[in-house]
Amino acid sequence: MRQSLLGVPRRAGKNRKTRKVPLLSRPAALAERIELAHVLDPVVHELSETVVRALPAGARTDALHGVPFGQPAHPALVRLPLGCWTSAVLLEAFPGTERAAALLIAAGIAGTAPAAATGLADWSALHRDQQRVGLVHALCQTSAATLFLGSLAARASGRVGYGRVLSASGLAVATIGSYLGGHLALRLGAGASHADQVSHLAGLGWHDLCDIGDLPERRPVRRQLGYLSLLVYRAGPEVSVLSDRCSHLGGPLHQGRIVVERGRACVACPWHGSTFAVADGTVVHGPATARQPSFETRVTDTGRVELKQRA
Ligand code: FES
Repeated sequence: MRQSLLGVPRRAGKNRKTRKVPLLSRPAALAERIELAHVLDPVVHELSETVVRALPAGARTDALHGVPFGQPAHPALVRLPLGCWTSAVLLEAFPGTERAAALLIAAGIAGTAPAAATGLADWSALHRDQQRVGLVHALCQTSAATLFLGSLAARASGRVGYGRVLSASGLAVATIGSYLGGHLALRLGAGASHADQVSHLAGLGWHDLCDIGDLPERRPVRRQLGYLSLLVYRAGPEVSVLSDRCSHLGGPLHQGRIVVERGRACVACPWHGSTFAVADGTVVHGPATARQPSFETRVTDTGRVELKQRA
């Protein structure tokens, strides 16, 4: 079967039997094909390396991820360009609104810079299938911004009708890009917390975990509580317990490095370096933005470690 660049089967002839795909499932099927489009990998690899080099770990990169806000900054920032562009195209249905529409288009274009910067930062710390979808999403949004820029130029030279065609085309392309952004966030889980289900899996009250003598000193280990994998860290008589599944994309925290940040013992995820305070799961460095679920602990007179979910 012949395939297009993205691996989508092409029609080969009139008599060929084609499988009927329900209309509504086609966008999702295309997005799934993009996830597997290895042809994008050289570009993804090159761009990802460039972004990682340009954004070393630190306060600036944390801000781009949204660490200070407790959730990714990108979804909030894309509202400006998308909202302005949608409003501009709708406004143009009414006479005498050319100046207002042009102003909205310009505001939307100005809003693409922070949206792109935050999106690139998040994108650089995703899995490869997510990055393929993210790349096409970014290409759509860049094309949309270019079309809106062309629309502004056309209006400035007096070709208002042509400018309207360009802005309508820009909105159509931005809508396709937004669909892929939704697929990336909601289907592939980019940006969502991957640790929040802990509150549904850990029962109420105190649970017996293990003997404190079985825990090595200042070395993270994994322990199981029912379905839950836990990172357990002992420093003298103090025992700290976090969910082992990193809130960023589910990496195994017990395989991470213990580092000291701001005077606190922290664990750095082995996958993308998100750093959490072991005492309470506070995010110290992104890309994770959601606090790592943590547990209160106590040691009984017989030396057993018990834990309960922190409120
Ligand atoms: S899974 Fe990405 S930082 Fe942990």
